[in-house]
Amino acid sequence: MMKLSVAIVCALVAAAALVIGGEPAAASELKVGYYGKTCKGVENVIKWHVIKALKQNRRTGAALVRLLFHDCFVRVRSYACDRAHQIMLHTYCSKQFDVVGINGGFEQCAQGCDGSVLLDKSYENPHPEKEAPVNIGLAAFDLLEEIKAAVEKRCPGVVSCSDILIYAARDAGSILSNGHVHFDVPAGRLDGFVSSADEAQRELPDSTMTVQQLADNFAAKGFDTEQLVILSGAHSIGAGHCSSFTGRLSEPPQQIVPAYRDLLNYKCSQGANPDVVNNVRDEEYATVARFMPGFTSRVRKISDFLDNTYYHNNLAKIVTFHSDWQLLTNQTSLDKVHEYANNGTLWDEDFSDSLLRLSKLPMPEGSKGEIRKKCSVSNHFQY
Ligand code: HEM
Ligand SMILES: *[C@@H]1O[C@H](CO)[C@@H](O)[C@H](O)[C@H]1NC(C)=O
Ligand SMILES: *[C@@H]1O[C@H](CO)[C@@H](O)[C@H](O)[C@H]1NC(C)=O
Repeated sequence: MMKLSVAIVCALVAAAALVIGGEPAAASELKVGYYGKTCKGVENVIKWHVIKALKQNRRTGAALVRLLFHDCFVRVRSYACDRAHQIMLHTYCSKQFDVVGINGGFEQCAQGCDGSVLLDKSYENPHPEKEAPVNIGLAAFDLLEEIKAAVEKRCPGVVSCSDILIYAARDAGSILSNGHVHFDVPAGRLDGFVSSADEAQRELPDSTMTVQQLADNFAAKGFDTEQLVILSGAHSIGAGHCSSFTGRLSEPPQQIVPAYRDLLNYKCSQGANPDVVNNVRDEEYATVARFMPGFTSRVRKISDFLDNTYYHNNLAKIVTFHSDWQLLTNQTSLDKVHEYANNGTLWDEDFSDSLLRLSKLPMPEGSKGEIRKKCSVSNHFQY
């Protein structure tokens, strides 16, 4: 009996605490130049770090662009939130932990671009998004943590990790495209509390999907087939693990050029699930010379150029993922692949718009968040 009433009191105290603090972050409140007064120059600080990192390794830029997509595209549904909420109350009661600022209802407590992909495994998030199979190969976490530390030094507690991620991905896109991909980032996002591998697995597209499944997946987030085709052009940069294109290694010639299939098979035999560049242009010269001698003139000294070559490769049936090839099998998407293959400037512009649109996938009105001190852990869960 005693135990029960303690539990009730504790729940009431916790519930009362829950409604205080934490500004809502509806998409409509995002603003270009959001930190102009509160953290002057923050965009330059971030850019400086991104430039420095990409000078060392351009692949990090690809990782940032993918992180933006994988953060923004995942909605966390209420049951994952409820669970986190329960754990939080439990934590509060057993350790007198401060839970101020956390959404009471906890409906849709984390959604869209909320930095949830950056959270590490913890008691409250035992299976974070990072652990989802679909998130294989995610990287650039250290860079973001380095940037966050620099920004915290300059203006503590002001700039969210979710905003830093978007700024950094925007800068990476710009650098890798020689400035052709560019847009102003509206900011003012808050960092979410919940990160769920199940949700990421459910919400993110898989490389084995058909064009219809891809279109449906994007439609669920308000993106049409044209935007699916535009955004898939990001596969002109970066790499994928062999396990992400196992099926491609035995597909028939109508789906993949046999010489390219041989090249992929060779690369994949060189280690335990190694990663292979998405764009044949970024492959080692000797490997291309051996399997696709006609392509050696395309091999570049500097890798990871973000441009419309993805569409040329796709039409030539030399792309890595089944999902990429699938875009050729539907008339609507095929027309778009042709359009972007024919006009690189058009793609630069439309890709910029679509990336911006991704970055605006909102936390719903009334959601609560925080400004994390470190991007990999929630402030409320540090113990
Ligand atoms: C259309 C559905 C999509 C599917 C099925 C898909 C699938 C994949 C897969 C399987 C990988 C390789 C992961 C690995 O094995 O390590 C990958 C890499 C990548 N994806 Fe996607 N992707 C899609 C859309 C997008 C979008 C919309 C973007 C960004 C706008 C994007 C950007 C990237 C980048 C940049 C990489 C390379 C990452 C790196 O090198 O670190 N992808 N994608
Ligand atoms: C192509 O995809 C669009 C969008 O999902 C769909 O409406 C259309 O029926 C598809 N067309 C074909 C020929 O599959
Ligand atoms: C390519 O797209 C750009 C940007 O939309 C446009 O101005 C230009 O006219 C297009 N070029 C061709 C050849 O269609």
